Amino acid sequence: MRRPLIAGNWKMNTTPEEGAELGRALAKALVDAPAVDVAVYPPFLSIGPVAQALRGTDVAVGGQDLHTETGGAYTGNTSGEMLAAAGCTTVLVGHSERRTYEQESGELLAAKTRAGLRAGLWVTFCCGETDAQRDAGDTLDVVRGQLADGLGGLTANELRNVVIAYEPVWAIGTGRTATPEQAQDVHAAIRAWVTSTWDAGVGRSMRILYGGSVKPTNVVGIMAKPDIDGALVGGASLKADSFDALVRFQSL
Ligand code: PGA
Repeated sequence: MRRPLIAGNWKMNTTPEEGAELGRALAKALVDAPAVDVAVYPPFLSIGPVAQALRGTDVAVGGQDLHTETGGAYTGNTSGEMLAAAGCTTVLVGHSERRTYEQESGELLAAKTRAGLRAGLWVTFCCGETDAQRDAGDTLDVVRGQLADGLGGLTANELRNVVIAYEPVWAIGTGRTATPEQAQDVHAAIRAWVTSTWDAGVGRSMRILYGGSVKPTNVVGIMAKPDIDGALVGGASLKADSFDALVRFQSL
């Protein structure tokens, strides 16, 4: 019942021109794509050209961040409403790079999640532990704490527009993927937490993506796990052929 979702987080990569080119390549590669949902998160300046290149496809385009307000005197920021007007239907919230480099707090991330939903976007909400937290045996407490802070105030109805991405910080951009078993253990704990915080229906329908060095060579083992519903992909989403292979994981 949970349709797989493969999402590409382009991070701070691609000029508008390069983004458009990658968008066109994806549009071409994914014409006969299988029955999975696909989303890409280009940097702000590439959103317009990418949305244009992907027009007429089912690929969702999203922002990598948003401000909590709709507009006004917030120099350098972009609102969810602006993202929607530029062709976005989704937004990333709580990526570990923003938690670390921009010091985004749980409270801020809760407000950003609400702002995304207010703008009519679906939210991919990220969580994940550091190496030290895993070594200390704190993984599940850290992840549940991040989710409680960010999503705890939402209603079951609002959660229908939320996807959770579990991304262990030690696996992001390092080539060190969590084993399918390590990921499955955390995904199962996240689903159990969602079920106990809301109800079994929300738990069953919540899509939980794994992220952290996902590549065509390891996606099959990851996607075989029962509580893993998709992938959030950084590096391997920047080349049309590897992203296309990931979207077609069912035939790898
Ligand atoms: P990676 O990034 O696939 O390059 O590890 C994943 C992410 O940060 O979303």
